Amino acid sequence: MESLLLALLATTASAAPSPNSQPPAIPLTYNYGGYPRIQADIAWGTPPQKTIPTIFDTGSSGFWVYGPNATINDGSQYHYTVGPCNKSVHNFYNWPASKTHAKLDTKHGYAFAYGGNGEIVQAPSSINDSFSFGNTKWPALSNNEVALANWTVVAQGDAGCKIPESDFDHSILGLAPISPATSGPSFRGNLLSQGKTKSSSFSMWFDKPPKSAKGSYQGTAIFGAIPSKSKYSGELVRLKQTPSQGTYVGYYVSVPKLTATSITKPGKGHSIGVSDNTVKQCLLDSGTGQDRLPFSQKQALSVTGLIEYDKEASFLAWNGSCDSIPPAATLNYTFAGATAGKSVTIAVPIRSYARGEFDQIPGVDTSKVCGLSLSLDEYGDCTFGAPFFTAAFAVFNDEKKQVALAQGGVSTGAADGPGGLGPVTVIGAGQDVPGSV
Ligand SMILES: *[C@@H]1O[C@H](CO)[C@@H](O)[C@H](O)[C@H]1NC(C)=O
Ligand SMILES: *[C@@H]1O[C@H](CO)[C@@H](O)[C@H](O)[C@H]1NC(C)=O
Ligand SMILES: *[C@@H]1O[C@H](CO)[C@@H](O)[C@H](O)[C@H]1NC(C)=O
Ligand SMILES: *[C@@H]1O[C@H](CO)[C@@H](O)[C@H](O)[C@H]1NC(C)=O
Ligand SMILES: *[C@@H]1O[C@H](CO)[C@@H](O)[C@H](O)[C@H]1NC(C)=O
Ligand SMILES: *[C@@H]1O[C@H](CO)[C@@H](O)[C@H](O)[C@H]1NC(C)=O
Repeated sequence: MESLLLALLATTASAAPSPNSQPPAIPLTYNYGGYPRIQADIAWGTPPQKTIPTIFDTGSSGFWVYGPNATINDGSQYHYTVGPCNKSVHNFYNWPASKTHAKLDTKHGYAFAYGGNGEIVQAPSSINDSFSFGNTKWPALSNNEVALANWTVVAQGDAGCKIPESDFDHSILGLAPISPATSGPSFRGNLLSQGKTKSSSFSMWFDKPPKSAKGSYQGTAIFGAIPSKSKYSGELVRLKQTPSQGTYVGYYVSVPKLTATSITKPGKGHSIGVSDNTVKQCLLDSGTGQDRLPFSQKQALSVTGLIEYDKEASFLAWNGSCDSIPPAATLNYTFAGATAGKSVTIAVPIRSYARGEFDQIPGVDTSKVCGLSLSLDEYGDCTFGAPFFTAAFAVFNDEKKQVALAQGGVSTGAADGPGGLGPVTVIGAGQDVPGSV
C-alpha cells in the first residue's frame, strides 16, 4: 500500500504547517522520584487548566481523570474494602469551567481496576473536551472522550491517613489494543472513529537521556504515523505479538535474551540465565514503574557488579550515587524478530533504572547507594516497564498484530514540539510498519 510522506516545516519564518499535516501527538516525560512511570502532563479544557499528571499506560485500555467532588479512599489492606481514610482530590478536571466541553454523559458509568484489583476507580459519567499539554509547543487535541472519576478505593495500609492525596494516580490514559472487551472511553478508538488516524497504530520513543541522573526523560508518542529513522538507530524489527492464553490486556512479546558486562571494567558480554523458564511472554507496560524480569539475579550481579541492598529494605542497586553510574553501561535485551534471521537488541542504560524509587526510605544514603527500578529472579512474571521505554523505539500495530522495536534513546527534539518532530509517514490500516523488517 502507498504511504503518504508528510514533510513538517521546521523552524523557518515561512508558513506554519497546517494543522492537518501533523499526526496527533502527545509529549511524554519520565521523571525522577516517587514511583515514576511514563507520563503525559495534560491540561484539560479551554482555557487550559492546571496540568494533571496522566499515566501513559500501554498496559490498560480505558481513559479516566478525576472530575469535581472526587474522593480517594485508602487505609484498608483488603481488596474491595473501604478504609478509614477519605482524601479530597485537589487537582482535577473542572469541566464546568471549560468553554469547549460537550454534554455530560451520565448514562454510561465505568469502573477501572489496576494492580490485581488493588486500585478500583469508579467513574459514573463521561464527557468530551479538548486538552493541551504542559509543554505548550505541542498543539491541543480536540474532542477527547474521558470518564470522570469521583471515587477510588486503594487497598493499602495508611497509619494516621498520612499519605498525601498528591501521591495517588490522578488520571490514566490506556493505550492497550482496542478490543470489543474494552471498558471505558478509548483515546485511540476516538482518533480512529473521528478520522484523525488511518489505523490504530502508534509510535513512541524517548530522546537521549538527560545529562543529570535526576533529570527528566523527554519523549513523544504520535498516532497513526511513524517518524523518520533519525528517531532510532539500527533496524526497526517486527516482533510477533504473543499473547497469553485466554483473556488478556496489553502487548506481549517473547522473552528476550539478556547480555551484560562488568559496569566498571566492560569487556566481553556474558549471557544471563533465566530464573523461570516456564515464562514465555513479556508484557510491554509503560504504566509499570519497574522492569520485572525472570533472569537470574545472582548471575546478573556477578557479571555487572551491581549489588543487592539489604538493610532497611531490599532492592537492586549501584554501589555509589546515581550520578556516578557510567552512562555507557547497559543491560542488553535481544528479541527474536518475526522474520526468520532478524533480531533486535535494546541496550537499556543502567541509568534508566535510577529513578529514585527507594530514596525516601529512611536510612538509605543516596550519596552512597542508588536504588534501581529493576526486579530480577521473577517467577511467573515478565514485565518491561517504564525504564525499558527510555531506550526502546516502539511501534504498536494492532491490525497486523505487530510490535516493532528499534534502539531508541538516540534522538533529540521532543521538547521542541512539532518543529522537532521532523517528517512523518502515515501508517495505513492493515499495512506493515513502514521501514520495518
Ligand atoms: C460539588 O459539590 C458541591 C457541594 O458539595 C456542589 O455544589 C457542586 O455542584 C458539585 N459539583 C459538581 C460538578 O457536581
Ligand atoms: C468516606 O466516603 C465514603 C463515600 O462518601 C463514605 O461512605 C464513608 O463514610 C467515608 N468515610 C469516612 C471515614 O469519612
Ligand atoms: C459519585 O457520583 C455519583 C453520581 O453523581 C454519586 O451518586 C456518588 O455518590 C458519588 N460518589 C462519591 C463518593 O462522591
Ligand atoms: C465524544 O466523542 C466520541 C468519539 O468521537 C463520540 O462517539 C461521542 O459521540 C462524543 N460525545 C459527545 C457528547 O460529543
Ligand atoms: C550492548 O549493546 C551495545 C549497543 O548495541 C553494545 O555497544 C555493547 O557492546 C553491548 N554490550 C554487551 C555486554 O553485549
Ligand atoms: C561498596 O563500595 C564500598 C567503597 O567502594 C565498599 O567498601 C563496599 O564493600 C561496597 N559494597 C558492596 C556491597 O559491594
